[in-house]
Amino acid sequence: MRTPFIAANWKLYKTVHETVVFVKELRSLVKDAGDIEIVVAPPFTAVHAAAEAARNSPIAVAVQDVHWEREGAFTGEISAAMAKEAGAEFAIIGHSERRRLFHETDETVNRKAIAVLGAGLFPIVCVGETLEEREANATLDVLDRQIKTGLDSLTGDQVASLVIAYEPVWAIGTGRNATPQQAGEAHAHIRSRLRAWFGGTAADLCHVIYGGSVKPDNIHELVMLPDVDGALVGGASLDVRAFADIVARSRQSAV
Ligand code: PGA
Repeated sequence: MRTPFIAANWKLYKTVHETVVFVKELRSLVKDAGDIEIVVAPPFTAVHAAAEAARNSPIAVAVQDVHWEREGAFTGEISAAMAKEAGAEFAIIGHSERRRLFHETDETVNRKAIAVLGAGLFPIVCVGETLEEREANATLDVLDRQIKTGLDSLTGDQVASLVIAYEPVWAIGTGRNATPQQAGEAHAHIRSRLRAWFGGTAADLCHVIYGGSVKPDNIHELVMLPDVDGALVGGASLDVRAFADIVARSRQSAV
């Protein structure tokens, strides 16, 4: 059985100071959370401070992006190895905001996934359709393309260690989350593709989490779905009590 996995994606929010205050409070709020993976993804500037504040706690740290090269003339970028040295254990890649605003493609997602795994970090690979694609009945084809190209050349063992975040673009930051039926269908489809393309063990061990307007009052119905292993939370993760509440409610669903 997969451990519930709840990650906070802070985007362009929180200073170093705010990060440390948040992580310290979260530590005390989740100290009895038990078997659940909790991840926070602050801006790059606060990654090291977050990792220090989370030391010896159930909280791990993610970066929100990395470059695929180890080093070079890439102004403004950081490598997966640098993220790891700063204390990150996970790296979000292919978030829809990166795809839409910063021209990320399935090919760059693939290069980043390979770099992240090579550096000993775990990728959180984001996939999901736009509203236009959903209305054109293209959701499952889009997911197939994003997964096939994004995970190209990865081994079954590597896919087993991944987190895939299904985030319908129309549900991100809109307050409009996918219905349990829509999420359930997409997650079951992703799981079946993982099984066909990377084998049964990869499909059974890979965490497939949902993202898009997750809140304390809708987490339960989502994580009750058999193929939903947790959530990637944006807006609601900025408030430590709301985020701790989401963690607690996802655990209640697991037991
Ligand atoms: P949201 O963001 O929870 O604010 O919709 C989710 C995400 O972008 O990862």
